[in-house]
Amino acid sequence: MNEILKGLIDKLDREKKLPHGEWVTLFDGFTDEEREYAASVARKIADEKYGKKIYIRGIVEFSNYCKNDCLYCGIRRSNRNAQRYRLTDDEILACCDEGYETGFRTFVLQSGEDPAYTTDRLVEIVRRIKAAHPDCAVTLSLGELEREDLARLREAGADRYLLRHETATKCHYEQLHPDFMSFEHRMKCLQDLKELGYQTGTGMMIGAPFANSDTLASDLEFLCEFKPHMVGTGPFLPHKDTPFRDEPKGSYELTLFVLSLVRIMLPNVLLPATTALGTIRPNGREQGVLHGANVIMPNLSPTAVRKKYMLYDNKICTEDSTTECRFCLQRRMESIGYEIEITRGDYCDD
Ligand code: SAM
Ligand code: FES
Repeated sequence: MNEILKGLIDKLDREKKLPHGEWVTLFDGFTDEEREYAASVARKIADEKYGKKIYIRGIVEFSNYCKNDCLYCGIRRSNRNAQRYRLTDDEILACCDEGYETGFRTFVLQSGEDPAYTTDRLVEIVRRIKAAHPDCAVTLSLGELEREDLARLREAGADRYLLRHETATKCHYEQLHPDFMSFEHRMKCLQDLKELGYQTGTGMMIGAPFANSDTLASDLEFLCEFKPHMVGTGPFLPHKDTPFRDEPKGSYELTLFVLSLVRIMLPNVLLPATTALGTIRPNGREQGVLHGANVIMPNLSPTAVRKKYMLYDNKICTEDSTTECRFCLQRRMESIGYEIEITRGDYCDD
């Protein structure tokens, strides 16, 4: 093992931060040996904080209409080949009810930025879910909203919000998004979420077009400073109907390495082994857990619409039912010595 890189991983473990140049040295120089070393440090920390328990969150992908046009995303508004769908309020509730029966205690409502779901309507949906399942957490992942709308949703009972920063480098953000989207607005939204008392999740794709060790170092520095409660990170995967169709996938090994480094830097963080990680490798989510992840987020959407929420090509679990996904994951976790926990799975702040 390279002693300098091992020294940097140990320094991160002690000091919980690194200067920019040392992050770059790690990303440029690591091999399987340093990745496996980081995984062992990360897994020890995760076991101390969360034991052998893995939290599950059920995602309801309730609309694939989107007014945005992120260049990497399969449901961007310019994709004329996407078959659009919206779930009714009752259908969303039914997905949560079915999820509850199979042991989910967190529901994640995710969609494109779809103006058909006004804040009034979303408030009503959140209220209905919290009334039906008072022991459950509701997480929103609706893209950027104004502070007053986020405040109303919080008052209605929403507990958490996921909004990936995507990249902490403004000029990189502009290479990934159309002109009408703003880096500053996304960052302001993240600040608002924290101030409003949401458990806040952010994150980035690994190996997105134009990303490099320098932009990734800035992402880790941003995470260090922002201290999110959750970090969602998976490999970039191309989608055939986007401008990035011919771009290479993000690196599987780098994604795993980043998961371990995030766990070492933010010991209590809720860290999902993402669907994208399970798509790039059949046992990617198991490996994600072995590299420090402690959350899995399977799909609760009706099977009929799952293929339509296609953010990238070959997304997994689009044929399976809620129950099949739930028990498949249970088997996968048990195969590596972990078990699924039936609780809300809140951030632990010890
Ligand atoms: N509209 C909401 C938003 O913007 O936060 C939620 C939905 S959006 C599709 C959820 C996440 O999917 C994005 O934050 C992005 O990181 C990820 N994503 C989109 N396209 C992807 C791709 N081609 N490969 C990997 N992840 C992708
Ligand atoms: Fe809106 Fe991807 S462009 S969800």
